[in-house]
Amino acid sequence: MQLFLDTTDVAVLKDLAATGLVDGVTTNPTLIAKSGRPMLEVIAEICEAVEGPVSAEVAATTWQAMLDEGRKLAGVAPNVVVKVPLTRDGLMATAQFAREGVQTNVTLCFSAAQALLAAKAGATYVSPFIGRLDDHGAQGMDLIGEIRAIYDTYDFDTEILAASIRSPAHVTQAALSGADCATIPPEVFAALFKHPLTEKGLEQFMSDWAKTGQSIL
Ligand code: E4P
Repeated sequence: MQLFLDTTDVAVLKDLAATGLVDGVTTNPTLIAKSGRPMLEVIAEICEAVEGPVSAEVAATTWQAMLDEGRKLAGVAPNVVVKVPLTRDGLMATAQFAREGVQTNVTLCFSAAQALLAAKAGATYVSPFIGRLDDHGAQGMDLIGEIRAIYDTYDFDTEILAASIRSPAHVTQAALSGADCATIPPEVFAALFKHPLTEKGLEQFMSDWAKTGQSIL
């Protein structure tokens, strides 16, 4: 399973990427606004910091304008993935990008029917939004399993990118439900390393080791 970081904070990204565990990055207009920086500059910096796919989202709403924006974004670096919303126009743009060999991430997916259309349009990734579905009173994680079943039945290559992840439990459930990737906010990514029993166990081991008076080196 691939783990992406959902951020536009380049310093935080570089710190976590040093672990070797970050396979790619996703961004969205909200995260670009949060960075307070010009989008093209941030995307270029992120693309230099990670080798894997970096999703950069179009702001246009018509497919023709999405194509113009997407081509410009794709020109920033070879690892840019053009992110488009799951709308009729978004899927028309996705189909054209597929014909041009431009990778796409179809975002704001909230139903299996939408995910089916994204795959038929030739999306590289589809992003079901787990946390926002939970907020809406649904079981967000069920959607991952439904999309997995459909994609496997019809042999679609589109990768399921679990998005709107809010907790380590979401990451585990996405993995168990067959997501190909998950995009994770930095604070949740940092929490994945931790377990109270790991900390407690390590404290005990360190204290017992100190009593031996030994040194390995
Ligand atoms: C990533 O591609 C999505 O834009 C992001 O995961 C959305 O997360 P949110 O629902 O926490 O804003």
